[in-house]
Amino acid sequence: MAHHDSGSDAEEGTEALRLTEVRKTYGSAQNAVTALDGVSLALPAGSFTAIMGPSGSGKSTLLQCAAGLDRPDSGRVVVAGEEMTGGSESALTKFRRRHIGFVFQQYNLLPMLTVEQNTTLPLRLAGRPVDRDRAREILGRVGLGERLGHRPDQLSGGQRQRVAIARALVTAPSVIFADEPTGALDTRSARDVLRLLRETLREHGATLVMVTHDPVAASYADSVQFLADGRLAGRMTDPTVDAVAERLAHLGDLADEHAPVGA
Ligand SMILES: Nc1ncnc2c1ncn2[C@@H]1O[C@H](COP(=O)(O)OP(=O)(O)OP(=O)(O)O)[C@@H](O)[C@H]1O
Ligand SMILES: [Mg+2]
Repeated sequence: MAHHDSGSDAEEGTEALRLTEVRKTYGSAQNAVTALDGVSLALPAGSFTAIMGPSGSGKSTLLQCAAGLDRPDSGRVVVAGEEMTGGSESALTKFRRRHIGFVFQQYNLLPMLTVEQNTTLPLRLAGRPVDRDRAREILGRVGLGERLGHRPDQLSGGQRQRVAIARALVTAPSVIFADEPTGALDTRSARDVLRLLRETLREHGATLVMVTHDPVAASYADSVQFLADGRLAGRMTDPTVDAVAERLAHLGDLADEHAPVGA
């Protein structure tokens, strides 16, 4: 799949996600917090983008609005050529189930369900036929082919996150959103999960948007989009760990909380 270098003028048709002037304010009147202050962004299909910025810069809000988990106050979100903003709550839920996959920091697996059942759950929720062969194939690819009947508490953190990745892939979504997917993992499992994410993306032609604090995690992406005070604050293609850490240091006080890795 061709990668377009410019985030803002990716062609229609090859575009997986477009945000136009997205704004989001929490609270009201004197205690209002502007979490997103007019964010415009276009990501080509098949791309892997990391979103980085200081704590409170609006990363999670951006993800929530882009993924249809929350509604912006104004602006447009277009996923796979279809506008997601506007429409009823149930239409939004339906759209989300069809087009969007999620990977969370805390995995969000259901403890009573097996690995295979957790993986096929999004299909059940969407009222789609449960293709067990496809689920098993994906689970095999993420290295859990021998763990189909296990429950989450019988798995390591890295294995749980791989179930979550399989679950995100099973519906063949247009875009997968991940908020700190390696935040709860040790260095080695994090690296395995990141490699796996990158490989499975390529194989499935999926688009990934990943929020992370970690320059190492960001270095697995094709490009990094920086955020500061609810606004985009620059973009870096083919990020390296050092270049990302360096840029972050200049964005705010993040460098004090999270020392650059690889020093
Ligand atoms: N539900 C909410 N109610 C009120 N304010 C909120 C709410 N959610 C987020 N905010 C505020 O919006 C701003 C952006 O928050 P957000 O969670 O998007 O930041 P973030 O970049 O994800 O931070 P972190 O790196 O700490 O996760 C912050 O000032 C935060 O306090
Ligand atoms: Mg956050």
